[in-house]
Amino acid sequence: MKIGVLGSGMVGVAIATKLVKLGHEVKMGSRSATNEDGAKWVAATGKGASQGTFKDAAAFGELLFNCTSGSGSLPALESAGKDALGGKILVDIANPLDFSGGMPPRLSVVNDDSLGEQIQRAYPNVKVVKTLNTVNANLMVEPGLLKDATTMFLCGDDAASKGKVQEILKGWFGWQDTVDLGPIAMARGTEMYLALWVRLYGALQNPMFNVKLVR
Ligand SMILES: NC(=O)c1ccc[n+]([C@@H]2O[C@H](COP(=O)([O-])OP(=O)(O)OC[C@H]3O[C@@H](n4cnc5c(N)ncnc54)[C@H](OP(=O)(O)O)[C@@H]3O)[C@@H](O)[C@H]2O)c1
Repeated sequence: MKIGVLGSGMVGVAIATKLVKLGHEVKMGSRSATNEDGAKWVAATGKGASQGTFKDAAAFGELLFNCTSGSGSLPALESAGKDALGGKILVDIANPLDFSGGMPPRLSVVNDDSLGEQIQRAYPNVKVVKTLNTVNANLMVEPGLLKDATTMFLCGDDAASKGKVQEILKGWFGWQDTVDLGPIAMARGTEMYLALWVRLYGALQNPMFNVKLVR
C-alpha cells in the first residue's frame, strides 16, 4: 500500500520505518522536499522509502498519518491542501503541546475542543482517526516492548475508517487491546491525558510506559 507520513520527527520516523518493514511504500512529508531528517531516513531505510513536501506525501498516500507537532499540524495540512488530502483516512497522532512556558507543557486547546476536532472541522471530507498519541513513539509500533499487554484508545466520526485503523493497530502494530471511545470529540480525553503522561514521565524518568484498562 502507498502511505503518506506527514512529519519527520521521532514519531514520523518510527511509524514510517515500521510501515516500510511491513512491505509498504512510504513517502515522508516535510515543509521542505529535501528536509535533512527525511533524507537521513530515506538513506537509512532504502527500498520503499521516499521523501517530499507535505503535499507530495499527502498526494502519494492512500492512507495518511499526521505525525507533525501540535502547532504545526494545521499549517502542515494546509500546505498539503484539500485536493491531496481528499477523502482519505488520516491517522492523527499529534498532541497540542505548548512548550513556550517550559516544562511541563500546556495544552494549546483543551476542555471544549481538541486538535483532532480542529483538523476534522478544517477538512470535513478527511476521515480523521485519533490514536497512538498516548504512548511514546517506540511503543506505537511495538507495544510488546512492555512486559504486559496495555491499552490503545481510538476515536473518530467515521465507523468504517475506525474499523480499518483498528485492524492496522492490531494486525500491523500489535495492539491487541483497543478501546473505541466514540466520535472525534473524544480526542479531548486522549489529548488531555497528556497532562498526566508528562507528569508520569517526570516521575518515572522513562517514557516506556502505558496504561492497561482493567475491566
Ligand atoms: N515523540 C513522541 O514519542 C510522541 C508520542 C506521542 C505523540 N507525539 C506527538 O506526535 C507529533 C510528532 O512528534 P515528534 O516528537 O515526532 O516531533 P515534533 O518535533 O513534535 O514534530 C516534528 C514535525 O512537525 C513539523 N512542524 C513543526 N512546526 C511546523 C510548522 N510550523 N508547520 C508545519 N510543520 C511543522 C516538522 O516539519 P519539518 O519536517 O518540516 O521539520 C516535523 O515534521 C507531535 O504532535 C507529538 O505531540 C509524540
